[in-house]
Amino acid sequence: MDYPVDMGVRPKVTGFFDEATNTISYVVQEPDGPACAVIDTVLDIDYSAGRITHGSADEIIAFVREHGLEVAWVIETHVHADHLSAAPYIQQELGGKIGIGEKIVEVQEVFGKVFNEGTEFQRDGSQFDALFRDGDTYEVGAMTCFAMATPGHTPACMVHVAGNAAFVGDTLFMPDGGSARCDFPGGDAGELYDSIQKVLSLPDETRLFICHDYGPGGRAIAWETSVAEERERNIHLAGGTSREEFIRLREERDATLAMPKLIIPSLQVNMRAGDIPTDGEGRPVLKVPLNGL
Ligand SMILES: [Fe+2]
Repeated sequence: MDYPVDMGVRPKVTGFFDEATNTISYVVQEPDGPACAVIDTVLDIDYSAGRITHGSADEIIAFVREHGLEVAWVIETHVHADHLSAAPYIQQELGGKIGIGEKIVEVQEVFGKVFNEGTEFQRDGSQFDALFRDGDTYEVGAMTCFAMATPGHTPACMVHVAGNAAFVGDTLFMPDGGSARCDFPGGDAGELYDSIQKVLSLPDETRLFICHDYGPGGRAIAWETSVAEERERNIHLAGGTSREEFIRLREERDATLAMPKLIIPSLQVNMRAGDIPTDGEGRPVLKVPLNGL
């Protein structure tokens, strides 16, 4: 696949860190105009109380309004398992089209079964406004962006590239954080390795914006790195880790990881493009399937 890389375009990027889930959401703005995309937003949930609030999304909404921006796209890099998406709330307040990778249908198939969703849950991605295929381009004002299919962490993962900025979702973390887990249904460590090689084939100086940071070893939270830095210093890749070594290292590590705290609510909401499921009477409700994951 030949991707339409254009390093001459330098978008403005603003990151918003959500402390509760260690997620970074982004507003990426065309260099010379008001158009922007909003990437990987967070809906706040107090799971033990069953309470949803919008503080994180409201920060982004305030930023967009304060700067007079116009939202063209609300992008999900993948179906997140550790936080709920605020995409529909952002869209309702600011507009824009909600987009995700076309392989969302595979994710919907798997988790439609896990959550016993029945026939009213469509498994065709129709909850989203757009489904991206590998190499698809889309416009944010005068800036052309493209999507790269990067499966491995999940089947529907995509990296979104806008000029010299790439939003890598859960492929790579900061160099000292390594890479994302591959043990969810549909995940595959070998595929993630291949996807990471795709990301690292972007020009060295490409700015990489990651989706999660946990501040390993007590360092301050960070979210921007580059292709060159990842290639040289990523703890899962440096020294030319082979595909086989990567798979072994990834599978060993994944075997030690607990399920993310919010996986049960996150999947149910995010596979619906951020809509909250309802019971027979239209009341918002989440399920907890026992021993289903
Ligand atoms: Fe993820």
